[in-house]
Amino acid sequence: MSVSQLFDQAASARRVDKITIRRPDDFHVHLRDGAMLQAVLPFTANQFARGIIMPNLVPPVTTVEAAAAYRERILAARPEGSDFEPLMTCYLADTTTPDEIEKGFRDGVWKAAKLYPAGATTNSHFGVTDIPALAPVFERMAKIGMPVLIHGEATDPAVDIFDREAVFMEQSLLPLLKRHPGLKVVIEHVTTAETVDIVRAHASRAAGTITPHHLVINRTSIFQGGLRPHLYCLPVAKREHHRLALRKAVTSGDSCFFIGTDTAPHRRNAKEAECCSAGVFGGATALQTYVQVFDEEGALDRFEAFASVNGAQFYGIPLNRGTITLERRESRIMAAVAVDDTEVVVFQGGETLPWSVGPVVA
Ligand code: NCD
Ligand code: ZN
Repeated sequence: MSVSQLFDQAASARRVDKITIRRPDDFHVHLRDGAMLQAVLPFTANQFARGIIMPNLVPPVTTVEAAAAYRERILAARPEGSDFEPLMTCYLADTTTPDEIEKGFRDGVWKAAKLYPAGATTNSHFGVTDIPALAPVFERMAKIGMPVLIHGEATDPAVDIFDREAVFMEQSLLPLLKRHPGLKVVIEHVTTAETVDIVRAHASRAAGTITPHHLVINRTSIFQGGLRPHLYCLPVAKREHHRLALRKAVTSGDSCFFIGTDTAPHRRNAKEAECCSAGVFGGATALQTYVQVFDEEGALDRFEAFASVNGAQFYGIPLNRGTITLERRESRIMAAVAVDDTEVVVFQGGETLPWSVGPVVA
């Protein structure tokens, strides 16, 4: 036997083909409403025990009453036997008051509030136009320990789309962190190496979610062989060195990073359109993609912390009981999910992925 064969043998002896972890949570999910909710919820509920539910419906979820009603609709749409728990959020608007924020938090209706700079992304037109003007709301949130979840992109149309995250961090996020030292902040869907550093530098009260798609595509992927609308999301994927920094961050074992898939389904006709909606439907393949990344980076032993521990600890909610098993078993991913008379294209749909989701034990 040659030396290289001996190495191969040793490597395959060490190879892990199956991992069982505590059930994970998804801290950034767009479930939508109506027929779309019915169609996409089973995928998230199959993979995750709980989800932080984004409030960017039309109209947005800005009141305690609307959040409680939306929660009921999600519970009613769960597949038979599912124990999936939706954790609701409040959509911050210029008119949000500290009292409404505190009421929903104390009543246990919402766990966090989402800050969309007005115009930054899908259904953000009712978002915040003047972040410093919302200081009384942030002060109250700091006082009661309620996190603000931030879509971190500058909205000035003159700013290059690939620089919008970086510009937001400098112009808006760092001043906000400084002005409100007690405020807990999640920087959602981190896409740059610089934002990774900012999260780390504020890790005592800041965290970052990272999506599966930003770990496997870069900005060139969006133009591979032609324009690929189903890979267009906001924040848009950046250069390769940023993707590599995100892979390092998630597999670092640092507790300030955790799952937020930003699964954001849009109907095929809204994606394959003259003006394509932003959003990638990653909910059906999220764990398969994440675990593949950890495997490729030789960090499977750190997967459970990222998937099932760090986020819950940041939010101050109990860790899930029960387990989910992920197996190295190839499976072909369905291309699309039917909704009404159209469909939603699945991220990595039609591909064969090396890992599969195995049994869940509640
Ligand atoms: C999200 C959506 O479609 O609601 N789109 C996206 O590109 N990620 C909104 C968001 O999270 O930006
Ligand atoms: Zn989102």
